[in-house]
Amino acid sequence: MMPGDLPAARDLWSEAEGVDVAEGDSVAELMRYLERNPDLSTVAVDENGRVIGAVLCGHDGRRGFVYHLGVTKACRGRGVARAMMNRCREGLKQQGLVRALLLVAADNVGGQRFWQREGWDEMPYARPMGLDL
Ligand SMILES: CC(C)(COP(=O)(O)OP(=O)(O)OC[C@H]1O[C@@H](n2cnc3c(N)ncnc32)[C@H](O)[C@@H]1OP(=O)(O)O)[C@@H](O)C(=O)NCCC(=O)NCCS
Repeated sequence: MMPGDLPAARDLWSEAEGVDVAEGDSVAELMRYLERNPDLSTVAVDENGRVIGAVLCGHDGRRGFVYHLGVTKACRGRGVARAMMNRCREGLKQQGLVRALLLVAADNVGGQRFWQREGWDEMPYARPMGLDL
């Protein structure tokens, strides 16, 4: 994912059910994320160069993090998300990371099934928490 992909990626996420475009998701803020985490976030494009999938991926030096995985409805079920995630996983591994985390909305059953299919474990012993700074 390059900075020029961000407006299209953001539009895709806004239309994807189960993806919460929220604080920190302006194009300027996403650009800062890409600068801090170069070459990990990924887009998929069709033969015309149109963005059909996008995912944010980065790490803090200890854990990898994945946000906002989405594929346009017309292009689902063809392995696009799996291919993007394989690229992200390889990138994190190459940078020495051994574990990654993500949040999936409690009511996003389709998203949860996808992650389980791809080998991600639920963490019933943990509760996500947040703080507005
Ligand atoms: C979830 C999403 C990214 C999957 O994208 P995709 O490109 O269709 O997924 P893939 O084709 O790579 O699927 C990979 C595997 O997951 C399975 N899978 C994908 N979506 C699934 C679903 N909703 N329910 C059950 N299994 C699913 C596929 O069957 C495939 O497994 P298989 O090879 O055994 O058949 C896409 O449906 C989407 O954008 N959903 C809306 C946004 C969302 O929920 N994102 C996750 C936010 S945390």
